[in-house]
Amino acid sequence: MLYVSIACSAIPALSDVSYRTATVEDFPGILGLIRGSFDGVLREHGFFDSSPFASPKMPAIPQQGFPWFEMGLKEDNEGFWIAEVDGKMAGITLSWVRGSLWYLAHLFVSPAYQGLNIGQNLMERAMKHCKDPPITNRALVTFAYNPVSISLYARHGIYPREPLYWMEGPSQQVKTELSNSKLRNERAVDFEKSRSVLSRIDELTLGYPREKNHAFLFSLPSVRCHLFSSGEKPVGYAYVWQNGRVGPLATVSHEMFRDVLRSAFRLAAEGAPNVGIAATGSNEQLMQVALEQKMRILDNYLFMSSKPFPNFSNYVLYPTGAML
Ligand SMILES: CC(C)(COP(=O)(O)OP(=O)(O)OC[C@H]1O[C@@H](n2cnc3c(N)ncnc32)[C@H](O)[C@@H]1OP(=O)(O)O)[C@@H](O)C(=O)NCCC(=O)NCCS
Repeated sequence: MLYVSIACSAIPALSDVSYRTATVEDFPGILGLIRGSFDGVLREHGFFDSSPFASPKMPAIPQQGFPWFEMGLKEDNEGFWIAEVDGKMAGITLSWVRGSLWYLAHLFVSPAYQGLNIGQNLMERAMKHCKDPPITNRALVTFAYNPVSISLYARHGIYPREPLYWMEGPSQQVKTELSNSKLRNERAVDFEKSRSVLSRIDELTLGYPREKNHAFLFSLPSVRCHLFSSGEKPVGYAYVWQNGRVGPLATVSHEMFRDVLRSAFRLAAEGAPNVGIAATGSNEQLMQVALEQKMRILDNYLFMSSKPFPNFSNYVLYPTGAML
């Protein structure tokens, strides 16, 4: 009788997996793992060539280091976890908490270690991350075409709420006319001076203040915050990125949304060859404005939350999904 021995040492037993919180030394490895895992999903579902988030379209080494992971370590280390197999990084997660809102910024397992309960274990650790007061809502963005991640989150009580289309278009196509001639915009450079206006708009739009996220965006050289007003009244804000991306953007009323969005696209088009946005399917004005700029859908995502939220008719998400 012929016995065939199958080498199964590559498949780790659950006991071989260890979990620990992240450190500064992990940052380059975390970035590499996220990109490898991200590319794996894009390839598997046919979005690798079109998605602007495929690793060949990203800067090889981040010019400004890892400010996002640094903030995670400083503010949210209880939600920042690494899974290791034989001392090798196999998975990572990072959740952030602002007041009673919990948000899952990243959950990625390397393709070689997927399907071994590592994602489930990382998720459970991130879910325990809370501060004072208790968590009232949980939210995240995932791939619209990955049943593994969608079902993992749904089993933790976080449900699909909103389709997100990553849309981009050439800056020359951006339309400049506004219907409300009273709308003014001003670049905000000092977070402390803008703090109360931003918080008030967030309170009306999202119901949660996210001051630390605003302070973080103000600290980045690659993004500018613009405050919009009509007469003397603040009506919204928009973050405009050097690479032409827009978001987050919020307005106090749906009536102002279209003009604030058009103005943000106009500002974005001034310095970049393309403009881009995470368009929420239920926001008719957003879809109409994006289509009038001749923008095209390049990738599909899904917003999930434990309770219906936020009011997407007045709101545009951060352009990578890591922040709300
Ligand atoms: C999503 C991801 C984090 C999950 O981690 P993982 O370690 O592979 O997953 P786990 O082994 O813990 O659990 C996967 C579960 O999904 C289930 N599953 C697999 N395919 C499924 C499908 N088509 N429908 C429903 N459930 C499915 C598995 O059966 C398993 O559940 P079980 O343990 O009850 O059988 C990981 O696969 C990954 O990194 N994927 C690529 C990146 C990604 O999508 N990240 C999330 C974006 S925010």
